[in-house]
Amino acid sequence: MAFVGGLGVVGGSRSPGLTCRPRRSRAIVWNVAVEGKPAIDRGAFPILEQEINGKPLVYFDSAATSQKPQSVIDTLLDYYKSANSNVHRGAHSLSARATDLYEGARDDIRDFVNAEHREEIIYTKNASEAINLVAVSWGSQNISKGDEIILTVMEHHSNLVPWQFLAERTGAVLKFVPLNSTGSGMDMEVFHSLLSDKTKLVSCGHISNVLGCCNPVEEIIAAAHAKGAKVVLDACQSVPHMTVDVQALDCDFLVASGHKMCGPTGIGFLYGKKDILEEMPPFMGGGEMIADVFMEYSTYAELPHKFEPGTPAIGEAIGLGAAVQYLNKIGMDKIHQYETEIGEYLYKRLSEFEEVKIYGPETQRAALCAFQIEGIHPSDLSVMLDLEGVAIRAGNHCTQPLHTALGEAGSARASLYFYNTFDEVDTFIEALKSAVDVLGGKLTKK
Ligand SMILES: Cc1ncc(COP(=O)(O)O)c(C=O)c1O
Ligand SMILES: *[C@@H]1O[C@H](CO)[C@@H](O)[C@H](O)[C@H]1NC(C)=O
Ligand SMILES: *[C@@H]1O[C@H](CO)[C@@H](O)[C@H](O)[C@H]1NC(C)=O
Ligand SMILES: *[C@@H]1O[C@H](CO)[C@@H](O)[C@H](O)[C@H]1NC(C)=O
Repeated sequence: MAFVGGLGVVGGSRSPGLTCRPRRSRAIVWNVAVEGKPAIDRGAFPILEQEINGKPLVYFDSAATSQKPQSVIDTLLDYYKSANSNVHRGAHSLSARATDLYEGARDDIRDFVNAEHREEIIYTKNASEAINLVAVSWGSQNISKGDEIILTVMEHHSNLVPWQFLAERTGAVLKFVPLNSTGSGMDMEVFHSLLSDKTKLVSCGHISNVLGCCNPVEEIIAAAHAKGAKVVLDACQSVPHMTVDVQALDCDFLVASGHKMCGPTGIGFLYGKKDILEEMPPFMGGGEMIADVFMEYSTYAELPHKFEPGTPAIGEAIGLGAAVQYLNKIGMDKIHQYETEIGEYLYKRLSEFEEVKIYGPETQRAALCAFQIEGIHPSDLSVMLDLEGVAIRAGNHCTQPLHTALGEAGSARASLYFYNTFDEVDTFIEALKSAVDVLGGKLTKK
């Protein structure tokens, strides 16, 4: 078999519940933490070299948005200084330069997720727009009354609300895969039992932004396809952290946002299989997405422009291309390896205390921990940690149904990226101890 390896697959034996398949035949193994290992290319992130409230910044909120390396910042500056112009329209040199950069970034993204064709990459403002595009455009022709759409209870609101709209509009039915008995991942038995001939679509997250689990997407995709259903993968939390290969996965659509992968805000992308995108009607009307316009009707541009109305976020797209080049230069396998190690270290340090409850699986997790501390409100905790220079997030992290299923209104979340250090994890733990103390709680060593 070409692909052994994958998350949770150590030594080459396939365990169907735990595969996030790496591109090409490189096995990715979740390793134990190697304490003290230096972060990857931290010096490329100027924003990290500052003090917040008199303390060195510890940025543990990368699942919300990542920081940007100097090369991405420089690319944005250079673009506005030397190439800014509208794309595809002008017959002048500057426009040609902007167009080359804009379309070049699309090639970089195509390569990054290993799409077969460049037209399969549609720029969107964000992942939310990408999901709405599928829900509105694909949904308008392919979903009708009584059809079933399967989601999981752990979806980000971005991968829930657009489907609610579609269901309201068409009379389709949303079905939800619940958490499994340990509450740390999706219940695959229920997933399989929900699949039927009525299932037209499965849309699920690859890596949960709260549980940190990696869903068995290959198993999900294969099972959905066996019923003739299409699959949307919300890869917002996987694409920035590991090799994701759309051809190996065989997903029909995939969405990601640029700002979580070292790129600018205001840019994301949709990957869709070409034959499916070709059948889909445009999502929004306007300039750039048309071929010919008459008074009463228009004909549409070819892919990908059919789905990119108006002047695009040109600088942002080029910035995302620079981000992808940057990540490639480091290597996604190296990033994933380091994050696995520092993620385990974070989990281990947080698990030292009786009063801390961490959500998600014990092993094979992303480098993030959503947690509760007995008697402490997550928001109070984040305010206290901020005074120590530590940036974490508190709230429901746009997953209210998941928190309801966990029996909580919200949680605190520390989320890391390859530029974070093991020392920062220690600083976070020390800050946590004093914050909990000030807030009248306690942390007892197990
Ligand atoms: C899993 C997941 N899906 C979707 C989103 C939404 O992404 P965007 O803000 O680009 O629409 C996020 C991030 O907020 C996320 O973590
Ligand atoms: C989706 O709709 C298009 C256009 O009507 C049709 O050609 C295609 O076969 C449909 N696909 C599925 C999976 O229903
Ligand atoms: C629940 O899901 C998590 C994450 O996928 C997994 O680690 C765990 O083994 C599962 N538990 C059960 C009981 O299936
Ligand atoms: C996300 O995309 C939608 C749809 O294009 C857009 O209306 C919204 O402003 C975008 N959000 C941000 C923060 O860019």
